[in-house]
Parts: sequence; C-alpha cells; structure tokens
Amino acid sequence: MTDFLAPARLGQLTLPHHLLMAPLTRNRAEPDGTPTPLMADYYAQRASAGLIIGEAATPNAVGQTYPDIAALHTDRHTDGWRKVTEAVRAAGGHMFLQLQHGGRVSHPATTGLTPVAPSAVALPETIFTRQGHLPAPVPRAMTPDDIRATVADFASAARRAIDAGFEGVEVHSANGHLLHQFLAGNTNRRTDAYGGPPEHRVRFTVEVTEAVADAIGAGRTGVRISPGGTVNGIQEDDTTALYPALVHRLRGLGLAYLHVVRADPGDELYRRLREDWPGTLIGNPVLTDLTTEAVARAAREMLASGADLVALGRPYIANPDLVARLRKGAALNPLRERYLMYVGGADGYTDYPALDG
Ligand SMILES: Cc1cc2nc3c(=O)[nH]c(=O)nc-3n(C[C@H](O)[C@H](O)[C@H](O)COP(=O)(O)O)c2cc1C
Repeated sequence: MTDFLAPARLGQLTLPHHLLMAPLTRNRAEPDGTPTPLMADYYAQRASAGLIIGEAATPNAVGQTYPDIAALHTDRHTDGWRKVTEAVRAAGGHMFLQLQHGGRVSHPATTGLTPVAPSAVALPETIFTRQGHLPAPVPRAMTPDDIRATVADFASAARRAIDAGFEGVEVHSANGHLLHQFLAGNTNRRTDAYGGPPEHRVRFTVEVTEAVADAIGAGRTGVRISPGGTVNGIQEDDTTALYPALVHRLRGLGLAYLHVVRADPGDELYRRLREDWPGTLIGNPVLTDLTTEAVARAAREMLASGADLVALGRPYIANPDLVARLRKGAALNPLRERYLMYVGGADGYTDYPALDG
C-alpha cells in the first residue's frame, strides 16, 4: 500500500510526500484583497506541505464573499501574491492558488455591488460583513454577457496567478460558491443552456475550467468539487447523475487533478468518480478527529481507496510542521478558537508552534 509519507508526483512536480495543504480562507488580506506580508510568513511556515493550495482568491470585485479575503484581479493583488510565492519557494515549497467566485454568498455592504448568481435565489442564511451578520440579499440572475465576462475573469486571474509565481490554479466548484450554485438544482433555476438537466448545469464549470486551461495550460489546472455537500444552502438531489456528467466533460481535458471534498472511501459516488476520472485524484477526507493517529488513519484510507494525493485543512492550520510531526508520531497542536480561523492577525495564524520551536 502507498505510504503517505513517501514522495509523490503531480504532473511535472515531484512532491516530498502525499499530504497537500487544502485551500483555507483566513481573511488576513488587506481590505482591497491584496495579500499581506503576514500571509507570506504563514504560507512559508507551511512549505513542507509539499504542495500548498492557496486560499480562495476572488477573480473579480462582485465575486468577493467576505471582508479581507484575498483577490486576484489587479496588479497590486498580483504583486502581493508574488511575495507569497517567493517566500514559499525560498522555503522549498510548491504552490497552486484556488480561484473562487462567491456568487450569492456576497453582500453589497462588502462589495458595493449586487451579488450575481445563476438565479435570483437568496442564500437562506446571514452573511458576515463589517457591520456584522446581515440577511443575504437576493442576487441578480446572470445574463449570457455576465457569464461570458465571468469566464473571462477566471482566465485572466489564472494568467495573473502564473505571473505571480504559482505553479497552477484550482477552479473552485465546491462548497456552495458560484460554480457550485450552477451545478445544484436548488440554486440554478435557469431554463437556458446553463440550467435544467445535469448536462446543462455542468456547463458553466466546464466553460470556466476550459478557459483557465486555455489560459495557463491544462496541466496547471485543477478543479475542486464537493458532491452532496450542503455548505452555503446547497441541495443536490441528483448527485449520481450530476457529478458523473461533470467528470465526463472534464475527463478529456488533461487537467492536473480533480479534488474531491469529503471523499469517503465507502461512498458509492466517490468510487464511481474515482473509476471515471483518468488522472490524478486528490481526496480531502474531512476529519472528525484531529489527532496524529486519526490524521494518519484517514490519509492511509484515502490512498487505499484509490486517491493519488490527500488534502488536509485544519491539521495544517494548527501545525506548520504537520508532516514532521506525523513522521515522528508526535502529538498535533490543538486547533484554537474557531473565530481565530477567520480573524485575528497573527493570533491563531502564524503563532502555532513547530516542534523545533
Ligand atoms: C478556516 C477554513 C477555511 C476554509 N476555506 C476554504 C477555501 O477557501 N476553499 C475551499 O475550497 N475550502 C475551504 N475550506 C474547506 C477545507 O479546504 C477542507 O475541505 C475542510 O477543512 C475539511 O478538511 P479538514 O478535515 O482536513 O480540515 C475551509 C475550511 C476551514 C476550516
């Protein structure tokens, strides 16, 4: 069986082991979305992840979800990210960046703009803004022109990512953000070529992915999905038709990887996606227990189920030297207060200790 601590490959990259750092939004960017020096420190601390998938960065102004999240649509953003990739490379790491458009998970109090989405269906929750949690607004249904412009914004952000020194880009089609809103029947009520049957609802994710792959190369393009995930008010009642339809459209593109959130080795749909996907599959197990033993067990099960690589989120938040700890069988740092994940400057961000101090 594959040892998760043994070297691995992702396209042209040789990785020191199989445990990647999952994308983790931490709201430490400047108000305009420019990455801060603190973010460069945080990612450099975690360079031993081998491959870091950088947190969701917004490809245009209207796609911003919350205050202080990272963006990538101005020269200032590009320059800020370049400092992050330089710090990670100097520390021996590799880095992709996730691109995320929030769609209806956004608020005019943050962006000054009416959110856009496949259909005018509001998130049935409040949204965090600088004025606190506010009811989610009803988004504007995207026109064909909006769709074309948004696809182009993803491609342009992907070009910026390469310019900023990233080795690739992950298209975020998971966790209830814009692309996932197109996939799911409860958020996509369209009657045009982007709505209705699964083959139509996958079209937007496919177009964004193709545009990103055209812009930077398919070998530098990954896609993240969360089949059956209910985050951000998503309800999918046809996952067994929807996700195979998506994989069917993506499988011929020669992408760097498919990244599956909540990949459950016992789940039939997950097994089907593994069978249907010809390339690298990253499984993100979603842990219920953050101990050394539980993380190691989940990583082993993920690889035994046919995943090629494993992405871990919270263990990397709390342990800048996660892999050194797993190699030694050392205890993991406990994850601190939940709110520190999203606010708090260096507190709960760059102050988690490494074993060597
Ligand atoms: C603080 C925090 C921020 C997250 N931000 C993102 C994100 O930007 N993009 C994304 O696709 N998933 C995001 N996730 C989900 C993680 O990538 C991962 O799927 C989840 O934490 C489960 O993995 P784990 O059990 O190893 O933590 C986030 C999760 C947490 C806890």
